[in-house]
Amino acid sequence: MAFSARDIRADFPILDRRVHNQPLVYLDSAATSQKPRQVIEAINNYYVHHNANVHRGVHVLSDESTQAWQDSRQIIAGFFSADPSQLILTRNATESLNGVAYGWADHNLEPEDVIAVTHMEHHANFVVWQQAAKRNNARLHVLDIDEQGRLDLEKAAAQLAHWGQRLKLVALTHVSNTTGVVNPVEEVIAVCRRLEKKAGQPIRVVVDGAQSAPHLPVDFQSLDVDFFVFSGHKMLGPMGVGGLLVKHDLLTSGQLRPWLFGGGMISAVFTDRTDFHPQPDERFTAGTPDVASAAGLAAACRYLQALGMDQVEAWDRQLVSYALERLGELPEIELIGPTQARPGAVQLDRVGSVAFLYRGVHAHDVAQVLDSEGVEVRSGHHCTMPLHLKFGWQATTRASFQVYSTKQDIDRLLDGLSKVKQIFVGPRPAVAP
Ligand SMILES: Cc1ncc(COP(=O)(O)O)c(C=O)c1O
Repeated sequence: MAFSARDIRADFPILDRRVHNQPLVYLDSAATSQKPRQVIEAINNYYVHHNANVHRGVHVLSDESTQAWQDSRQIIAGFFSADPSQLILTRNATESLNGVAYGWADHNLEPEDVIAVTHMEHHANFVVWQQAAKRNNARLHVLDIDEQGRLDLEKAAAQLAHWGQRLKLVALTHVSNTTGVVNPVEEVIAVCRRLEKKAGQPIRVVVDGAQSAPHLPVDFQSLDVDFFVFSGHKMLGPMGVGGLLVKHDLLTSGQLRPWLFGGGMISAVFTDRTDFHPQPDERFTAGTPDVASAAGLAAACRYLQALGMDQVEAWDRQLVSYALERLGELPEIELIGPTQARPGAVQLDRVGSVAFLYRGVHAHDVAQVLDSEGVEVRSGHHCTMPLHLKFGWQATTRASFQVYSTKQDIDRLLDGLSKVKQIFVGPRPAVAP
C-alpha cells in the first residue's frame, strides 16, 4: 500500500480543528503525537465492553480484561520483535528509566563505578543517572559530542575504555529530541561488548527509544541491548503507558529487581517475608495496571505496523530534508544539528524534528507568533539543558513530525516565520537615499 499522509490524516480527528481561527498545523509531535481514531476506539471499546480488574476475578469481565491485557502486551512486545516476557509496561519512558535505576543500578553499582551518558540526553536519561550516581557514590561521565551535535564514536570508545572495570552502565538516546541526531547505537553497543570481554564483567547498555520508536523500525533482539525504553504517547498511543524491554538474563538472574511493591506482583506473602511472582511481567506490575491504555498502545502499534515502519521512516526523512532545505534558505534562521550525512554514509543521520535559532528573536516569541498563525511548535530547552548550555543556546524552536505531517505543514511554518520577520525585524530598509 502506498504511504499517503493525506489519507492518514483522515484517521486523526483532532487535525480537523482550528486554532486562532486557522486550520491547525501540529508540529509538536516529539512532545506528544496525536492519536488516530483506532487508538481512541480501542480505549473506548475497553471501557464500554470489558472493564474489570485483571487476574483476581473469576468472572467473565475479569477474564476478558485479563485477556485484553495479555493480548496488548503480546502486540506491543511484537512491535519491537521482543518476547512479551521481556516487556514491563510503565507509565512512560521516564518511569522506565527510573525503573532501571532503582531496580538495577541501586543493587549492582559499587562506589567509584561509572555510569556514562552523552551530552545530548533528555533530562529523563540524565537526571535519573545523576541521582543514581549520587545514591551509590558512583561517577557520572558525560561523553562528548561534536559541533554538529553528534557523538564522536572513536572518542567515545576511548573515553569508555579509559574507565576499565569501573564502567558498569552506558545510557544513551537512540534519537535526540532536540537535534534529531540518530546515534550509532549498534556501534556503541558493539564497543561495550568488546570492552566487557576485556574487563571480564558485563557493561549494561540502556537505549532511550522515546524518539526512535515513533520513527524507526526497532528490533530489540538484534540490537543486543540490555534495556530499551519508550513512551506510548509519542508513537500514536495514549498518555500514561510506556515500556521497558529487558534482556532475558537480567530477568532470570534476578539482577533487575522490582522497584514497586504491593498487590499483583507476589506469589505468597507471610508476616515476615514476601515471595515475588516468578513470571517477570507479573513481578514488575504492582497494583492495578492501566489495561485501557495498554489496549490503546497496542492499537497504535498495529496502526504503525500496518503502515510499515520502513515507510514511516522514509516519509519522516522526506519531511526532515524538506524542512532543512526550506529553513536553510532563510538567512535569519540558524539550523541546529547536522544538515549533511556523515562522510561515507548514504543518508543523513537525523529523524523526527528540526530545531533552529531565529537570529535576534527569542524562541518563545517565535513560537507565540507561529501559534497565532495556527502553527504549533515547541520552544525552550526541550528538556536538554546540558546540550543547550554546551552550545550557549538560551532556547531553540523545534518543529517535529509524525506520519500525518505534510510538506504543506512545513510551508505553513515558513509562512508563519515570515510573520515573525514582519513583527520583530520589520520591512527591509529601503535602499539608502
Ligand atoms: C529522548 C527522550 N527521552 C525521554 C523522554 C521522556 O518521555 P516521557 O516524558 O514520555 O517519559 C523524552 C520526552 O520528550 C524524550 O524526547
